[in-house]
Amino acid sequence: MQEKKTVWITGASSGLGLATAKAFAGVGWTVIGGARSFTNETAEDGIHHLPLDVTIPESCAAFVDEALAISPRVDALVCAAAVLVLGACENTAPEEYRRVMETNFVGTTRLVQAALPQMRKQQSGRIVLFSSINGLLGIPFQSAYTASKHAMEGYAECLAMETRRFGVQVCLVEPGDHRGGSDHTRLHASGEDDASAYRAAYECTCAAIHRDESGGLLPEKLGQKVVRNTMRRHMRFRLRVAKFDQHLAVWLHRFLPNWVNSLILRKYYGTDTPNH
Ligand SMILES: NC(=O)c1ccc[n+]([C@@H]2O[C@H](COP(=O)([O-])OP(=O)(O)OC[C@H]3O[C@@H](n4cnc5c(N)ncnc54)[C@H](OP(=O)(O)O)[C@@H]3O)[C@@H](O)[C@H]2O)c1
Repeated sequence: MQEKKTVWITGASSGLGLATAKAFAGVGWTVIGGARSFTNETAEDGIHHLPLDVTIPESCAAFVDEALAISPRVDALVCAAAVLVLGACENTAPEEYRRVMETNFVGTTRLVQAALPQMRKQQSGRIVLFSSINGLLGIPFQSAYTASKHAMEGYAECLAMETRRFGVQVCLVEPGDHRGGSDHTRLHASGEDDASAYRAAYECTCAAIHRDESGGLLPEKLGQKVVRNTMRRHMRFRLRVAKFDQHLAVWLHRFLPNWVNSLILRKYYGTDTPNH
């Protein structure tokens, strides 16, 4: 009988991480999900919940120990944990940049380093890293998040080349706007107050982001696509899941001069709106 496969998923308490966890459980995998809000328990849907803060090395080590006690295998690692700090570059504090990079990027590298020895031993493994359309182009007032996702894009290319000979495959998931994201991971820079020179433009952009996310795609569909890709013999390196206009934005970003893209995005987000 074929052994049951095991996946570790960070950021499994809400949004796309949760949807992906449910999709893996739906095809019979042992799912071990981590999040800060989890206590050590098994949920009704059979998903193992473990407390995990990817910014704390001791928490990552405890997660790995407990995961290996539940199942000695790690066939796939999905890194979805992330936070967003919205704010103008001028108003985003160094500690806010650090928080986003520590969670979205450095936290991911910690889990990858923890999973790789086991995957090398198995001579197989799948690593799925959540990037974003923001990993491919900048969006105003999302500089910290955009920087962290650009870092993920470069990192994934390096990781894929280095680990291929050990039977490990890597995938970058590049979602466009999806519903269901948690409010408590969408933070505002402390400097983005009423005195901000960017206030009106910032509010226009936040309204556009909110509108796009609440009218976004369904997380369940993305979860299923991630599972299907992970189970392919040759995983696709890039899995872009977005509406047509966001696919188009990526394409335009690649082929049009920067001033044209900048004009389109500034108009779309209302970035040139002056304070009254
Ligand atoms: N939703 C979208 O439209 C969209 C678009 C593009 C890309 N993405 C990417 O998709 C992924 C999921 O995003 P989402 O918006 O669907 O989810 P979300 O609801 O914002 O959830 C983020 C998850 O990360 C966890 N998390 C945050 N900080 C953590 C930490 N320090 N350690 C461990 N876990 C932590 C949260 O759980 P706790 O708070 O319990 O720790 C939560 O489970 C992210 O990587 C995001 O960048 C989302």
